[in-house]
Amino acid sequence: MIIVTGGAGFIGANFVLEWLGNTSEPVINLDKLTYAGNLASLATLADDPRHHFVQGDIADRALVDRLLAEHQPRAIVHFAAESHVDRSIHGPEAFLQTNVMGTFQLLEAARAYAGSAQAAADFRFLHVSTDEVYGSLDATEPAFTEQHPFQPNSPYSASKAASDHLVRAWHHTYGLPVLTTNCSNNYGPLQFPEKLIPLMILNALAGRDLPVYGDGQNVRDWLYVTDHCAAIRAVLAQGVPGETYNVGGNAEMRNLDVVHTLCDLLDELRPRADGVSYRGQIRFVTDRPGHDRRYAIDARHISTTLGWTPQHTFATGLRHTVQWYLDHPEWIADVTSGAYRQWTALNYGERPDAGASA
Ligand code: NAD
Ligand code: DAU
Repeated sequence: MIIVTGGAGFIGANFVLEWLGNTSEPVINLDKLTYAGNLASLATLADDPRHHFVQGDIADRALVDRLLAEHQPRAIVHFAAESHVDRSIHGPEAFLQTNVMGTFQLLEAARAYAGSAQAAADFRFLHVSTDEVYGSLDATEPAFTEQHPFQPNSPYSASKAASDHLVRAWHHTYGLPVLTTNCSNNYGPLQFPEKLIPLMILNALAGRDLPVYGDGQNVRDWLYVTDHCAAIRAVLAQGVPGETYNVGGNAEMRNLDVVHTLCDLLDELRPRADGVSYRGQIRFVTDRPGHDRRYAIDARHISTTLGWTPQHTFATGLRHTVQWYLDHPEWIADVTSGAYRQWTALNYGERPDAGASA
């Protein structure tokens, strides 16, 4: 038995689906169901007795204590977070509450449980974090290793960095057997359409503008989500408590190139009725405040110590992703609720079109 937090979100849902596809070990899925949590992503598990969904907050100590005592899991895999950088710029408080205080409460509950007679001897607390804690690279700097200093630049990355520090301290001071992963940008099925790739796919299909921040030259290192899930399984199985593992796709891309590639895939798979390329919908808009220029992950540690390497290239993963969104209009309709439309007005309403199209 394991407890997964945030298992109704993008990566958490992919993780739970794969976990139950690969093993018979049950999962307690604790998720608050914020705007980003979506039970439709887990619909295929509705009648599966191995999946036990609990709607609740990771910061609810009494609830977490009860779940630990009742189910005596051998691990907590902690995905739950506020995860979108732009939202953290508009409203940082929820990020501090969930990412910092929520992680703190979870660590305290795990510490009490791990010290009790009930706990599995090989109990692990796996904290899922991000490469954004390391800050921004210029074009020529080497990729982030696990030794790179923390230099978070957004409210989101600062809150994740704080949670990483708490996790580290709970190991160092209390001996909690923690594992931390710092991963690059994920993409794939089930991603909420506030993030670059699903946003561009949905906007393109709806005939809306494709808003590229700034000059579109910011670089991200893209990883297909199931490769991230495989890395987490490897770290959980064989990782050394107290260690951190960087996870990345070795697939650095400039944003504008990502958007061009998406347009080309859509031109092939779902051409516009008027025959014009989706590239014509690209618009450069005002940049994200504090926008990190480049992320790149050096994943040699996890690959040499645990044998993990990504299975998907960006080309195969992106094609699969576009096809998935084309094949799942009902999932899209489900997530594009009123709350999502309000977000679009807030974020993009404040980003006047800089006038240029690509
Ligand atoms: P997401 O926003 O899609 O999902 C987050 C989930 O957490 C949602 O289901 C939400 O309901 C739940 N949640 C939020 N607050 C909660 C709370 N207080 N209690 C319980 N549940 C709560 O996020 P994601 O993209 O799947 O990211 C998952 C984790 O992976 C996050 O910790 C994120 O920082 C990290 N990460 C994400 C990426 C990426 O590219 N998406 C890359 C590296 C690391
Ligand atoms: O690096 C890992 C991180 O990747 C995760 O920790 C975060 O949870 C996840 O949201 C992601 O953060 P980014 O800010 O890199 O992802 P996002 O999809 O929001 O943006 C990717 C790039 O695209 C970034 O440079 C901003 C740009 N962008 C984004 C949006 C939403 C645009 O140009 N236009 C947009 O409309």
